[in-house]
This record gives sequence, C-alpha cells and structure tokens, in this order.
Amino acid sequence: MDPIRNPYAPGAGQRPPELAGRGPQLAAFGVVLERVSHGRPERSIVLTGLRGVGKTVLLNAMRSAAVRRGWGTGKLEARPDQGLRRPLSSALHQAVRELGHPDPESVTHVLGVIRSFAERDAGPGAKVRDRWHPGIDAPAVRGRADSGDIEIDLVELFTDLGGLAADQGRGIAVCVDEMQDVGPDDVSALCAACHEISQSGLPVIVVGAGLPHLPAVLSAAKSYSERLFGYQRIDRLDRENADLALRVPAEAEDAAYDEEALAALYDATGGYPYFIQAYGKTVWDLAPHSPITVADVAVAAPEAERELAVGFFGSRFERATPGEREYLRAMADAASALVGSGETLDDIESVLTADVAAVLGKKPQSLSPARDALLKKGLIYSGERGRIAFTVPHFGAFLRSR
Ligand SMILES: Nc1ncnc2c1ncn2[C@@H]1O[C@H](COP(=O)(O)OP(=O)(O)O)[C@@H](O)[C@H]1O
Ligand SMILES: [Mg+2]
Repeated sequence: MDPIRNPYAPGAGQRPPELAGRGPQLAAFGVVLERVSHGRPERSIVLTGLRGVGKTVLLNAMRSAAVRRGWGTGKLEARPDQGLRRPLSSALHQAVRELGHPDPESVTHVLGVIRSFAERDAGPGAKVRDRWHPGIDAPAVRGRADSGDIEIDLVELFTDLGGLAADQGRGIAVCVDEMQDVGPDDVSALCAACHEISQSGLPVIVVGAGLPHLPAVLSAAKSYSERLFGYQRIDRLDRENADLALRVPAEAEDAAYDEEALAALYDATGGYPYFIQAYGKTVWDLAPHSPITVADVAVAAPEAERELAVGFFGSRFERATPGEREYLRAMADAASALVGSGETLDDIESVLTADVAAVLGKKPQSLSPARDALLKKGLIYSGERGRIAFTVPHFGAFLRSR
C-alpha cells in the first residue's frame, strides 16, 4: 500500500497515530491536575515499565495535558553520571516561560533563583568562565538555592516556583524520563523536595518515568517514597486496545484489517506498543491492498523481525561484551526452562541469578561483574534481590533466534 500514507510510528518517543489504552492513566492525571491547582494534596506520579511500552509517549501526553490546563512544564531525560542541576534548571526555565506570569518582577526573581541553582554546579571556587550558563538573563539571586546541598536547594527552588504558579491557580509539572538513571544523591533530594512541597500545599509535582525497578530505586533513596508517588505500571496493550492502535490509524487512511490479520498481529507483537508500530509499518508497506489479510502479515513478519533485530534489539545487544552476551543468553535459557503449560515467555518476568549461574555451570559470585555491567548498561534490571530480568520485551526470544 502507499508508503507515503503509512501512519505508523515505530521509534523511541515517537508519538503514535493512536494512543491506545491509556485513557485511565490520562483521566487520573487530569484529576491530579485539578486537585493540585486547587491546593489539594496529591502524590507525584511515576510511570514504570519495560522499554517500548510507551512510557515516554504517555509522559509527553501528560505534559501536554498540563500545558492545556495552563501549567508550566519542563522535561528532562536523566543520564547516568550526569548531575541534576543543569538539566533541571533548563526544564524549569521552560516551565516559567510557559507559565507566563503577568508580573515581571516575580518572574525575574524566580528566574534568578533558577540561575543561582544552576550556577552552583561548578563549585564555589570556579572561575566565571568555567561556569555553565543556563541561558537566563535575569541576575542570579545569591543565597537562594545555591547552598550546594542539593536537598536544601531543591526545596528552595520548588518553593519559589510553586509560589509563582499558585498565584495564578496553576501548577508546575517537572517531567523526568529515565528516572532510574538519576544519581543516588539527586534522587534522594528529589524525593525529599517532593515530600516537603506536598506538605506545604504548593502546586509542584514530579511526573517520572522509568524501568520497572524504579520504585525500588526510590525506596532505597527514601523509605517514605512508597507513599510519596502514585505508581502506574505501563504494560503491553490488551487485545482490544492493540487492535485499536492498528485499526484507527488505518481507518483514517481508508484502509482496514481482516479479523484474522489482527489476531496474527497480536500473536506476533504480544501487544507491546513498539512491536505494534513496527509490524503495522512493515505490513502496510508490503501489503498489496486493503483490507490487510493474515497472508499479508505472514509475508511481512520476517521483514518486521529483521528491522526489530537491527533497530530495537541489535542496538542494545551491541553494547554488551562477549562475556556479557553469554550471560544474557543464559538468562534467556533460564527463562525458557520456566515456561510451563499455558504460559508464554512473556509471562516469565524474571529469573533467579542462581539459575543463570547454573545454566553457565559457574559460581554466582564469579558472574557478578558481567551482571553489574549489564545492569549499568540498562539491559537488565533487578526488581528484587536475587532476581533479574531483561529491560527489553522479547529480548530472550531474540537472543535464542540468533
Ligand atoms: N498507547 C500506545 N498505543 C500505540 N502505540 C504506542 C502507545 N504507546 C507507545 N506507542 C508506540 O510505542 C513505541 C515506544 O514508545 P515509547 O514511549 O518510546 O516507549 P518507552 O518510553 O516505554 O520505551 C513508539 O513507537 C510509540 O509510538
Ligand atoms: Mg522512553
């Protein structure tokens, strides 16, 4: 069919043509926006899930909802080994601009606080030219958010920002993607600041997104974080919503799917949003005409898998050393050994590290370096002591097919 009219959008953070199955999360977020705007207490929100389930896209949709409500919003993507000050000050700078507060003096003050928060990054003895410039014209407000203690500084920063938003009956949403990669001190400070701010009833919330072990990361930082955040597990779509994700965009282009084609697509994609987009795109391009049939799906499947092997799996697999690849492969074998009657590989969430060691015939301790490196590279995660899992769905099947 006409590739120019192909509606599907495989790719990290790519807005899907139809955001299927996330109505409940968006509705709940709408309630949070209203409550916080009216000074009522609400928890910050954290979205968790595997790679490719649609966390980034949902985070962006929530951010848009906040903007429509007149809120100031900013977003950052955490990276391992990067401090919070710079990306956070850029995000908050953006949020203040979006807020469009009518009183220039108040705005100048808050921007000055953001600036002093940002400039503290270089350390007190740093020369002016070593300082990072946050691109803020307002003069830094010395003595505010620049103590060097990130926890104190964040509270001061959020307090001033919250005051600016509260003046207008609005709020501030700070979106943090890949939140599991925020460093331990920063994450602990972020929790403390959320805690402090929610107690004072100021309209500032954090909306985080990250891998399934993010709740464990936050609990390790501050034990009260379980009560601080509303956790929402983002998962594969059920059959009905997976069909909508495929059908609605096709219908907008006057195209359709056979019932059997939709069943075959669900079977292949397991309802994972990334796979739905990838399959949808390839099947569309290779099908001769509408309606798309189960035979069209069968013809396109090898090509879709090839593209996933390169773009989705391969790019991650390449980051692993030979020893780490052996470990990954052993994880896949250990998971397959657990598949019982009526269960698929998708139902096996994690494996015991001891089982992985047994597959390799090695002592668990001797495998710690490989495991730690894979954790650091974000290829696997550990939600519970002694257990590990792939961060990428279908990764085991990909490894076993190589
Ligand atoms: N609810 C959804 N319905 C249909 N497609 C979706 C949905 N959510 C995400 N996608 C698609 O899935 C892919 C991965 O989304 P992304 O937000 O990058 O996932 P994550 O951040 O969890 O890794 C993108 O191609 C996106 O268009
Ligand atoms: Mg993402």
